[in-house]
Amino acid sequence: MNTPLPEGFLWGAATAAYQIEGAVDVDGRLPSIWDDFCRVPGAIDGGDTGDVVCDHYRRWPEDIALMRELNLEAYRFSVAWPRVIPTGRGAVNAKGLDFYDRLVDALLEAGIRPFATLYHWDLPSVLQDKGGWPERDTAYAFAEYAEVVARRLGDRVQDWTTLNEPLCSAWIGHLEGRFAPGERDITRAVHASHHLLLAHGLGMQAVRANAEKPARLGIVLNPSGIAPATDRPEDVAAAKRMDGHVNRWWMDPTNGRGYPADMVEVYGVEPPVHGGDLELIGAPVDYHGVNFYFRQFIVDDPEGPAPYARQVPVEGAKTTSMGWEVYAQGLTDVILRFSQEYGARSIYVTESGSAWNDTVAPDGSVHDPERTAYLEDHLEAVARAIAEGAPVDGYFAWSLLDNFEWANGLDKRFGLVRVDFETQQRTVKTSGRRYAELIAQHRATRGGSSA
Ligand code: FCB
Repeated sequence: MNTPLPEGFLWGAATAAYQIEGAVDVDGRLPSIWDDFCRVPGAIDGGDTGDVVCDHYRRWPEDIALMRELNLEAYRFSVAWPRVIPTGRGAVNAKGLDFYDRLVDALLEAGIRPFATLYHWDLPSVLQDKGGWPERDTAYAFAEYAEVVARRLGDRVQDWTTLNEPLCSAWIGHLEGRFAPGERDITRAVHASHHLLLAHGLGMQAVRANAEKPARLGIVLNPSGIAPATDRPEDVAAAKRMDGHVNRWWMDPTNGRGYPADMVEVYGVEPPVHGGDLELIGAPVDYHGVNFYFRQFIVDDPEGPAPYARQVPVEGAKTTSMGWEVYAQGLTDVILRFSQEYGARSIYVTESGSAWNDTVAPDGSVHDPERTAYLEDHLEAVARAIAEGAPVDGYFAWSLLDNFEWANGLDKRFGLVRVDFETQQRTVKTSGRRYAELIAQHRATRGGSSA
């Protein structure tokens, strides 16, 4: 890295409950929409599921030891609602909550600052049976769940995220049908989007009111740089719609600007806003969480689903095994948009990483130069954004461990640590060692942040 990161910059890694925990029917957990979606024939590549994955529910002490080995200063994990309140509303499952209680204690003991995400896509199935996110009641159920978790962990956890990437829940889950719950309905998708954002607003209130430690709260969005693929007026207009769909629909209301009127017209569906909702949703966050993976070149697609625009491949681009273009400047750009257009005062890169077809050497080591270069280039991109005035306070690599990559199953490996899903053996990859080294160097030269 050429550009130094500022003093106090926080180095972390991220995971999500369903992607690593396994133990789906243990200690009172009930199914979530992802358990159900994994049973839909053809929904997940290879027919994979999150039933076992990294078995983190049992192996968490070993995983915290790995975090130490990587010199991590912070760990972003998600709490599984179907463990804590398995029926979505009502009875709290003590054993489920105990798991996160132990995890937080052990993280703090290891000097690692916990960043808790309350919702990373695993809605309890019982709530889906009652209509799921398209129903307003689901937002209130989320607030009750947030209160329960805040009461239990809020004496030790300071950093909270309400939702991870509500775009994926609403648009990919309810419009494109590629993610749970697998629906394709614009009205339900728009309604889901509003109730997710309402859940964010109510969840912030619930955590602030119930956590003992003053909470720092944010929402994690996944903005993309969007550009038209050609200068045809249809494509230029399509890119504007895609920007509305992917970026403004989420950034505007969570920054107190309400929903973009042009998009309400594109969808032909009014979000079901009640009095006071927009104030709740627009209440100031303490930080903006930014997940970044790719930029998008867009063409007009009148036949496709809303927003009638489609991403096309970038000619000659280097792509990861997800088929996503490697473009680090895109991270600088989305960060600058948050700071310049929306006036963000604190930003964390809450996910950034890449999947590659790793190979294991005969001696068991995993040499992953592409992931290592990706990591370094994206940290450099963060440093450039900071040099241009953006207040970025930390970076969380996606992901600590190889894990269940949603509809792509177990094949797409994002980990700094390899997981052999048969034996559960963990191996720190070259990228993980490099990350540990960068953290140590930063600490030595600038004085790192402490938990
Ligand atoms: C993000 C998700 C995360 C992971 C990465 C690759 O959209 O938040 O769970 O799957 O993509």
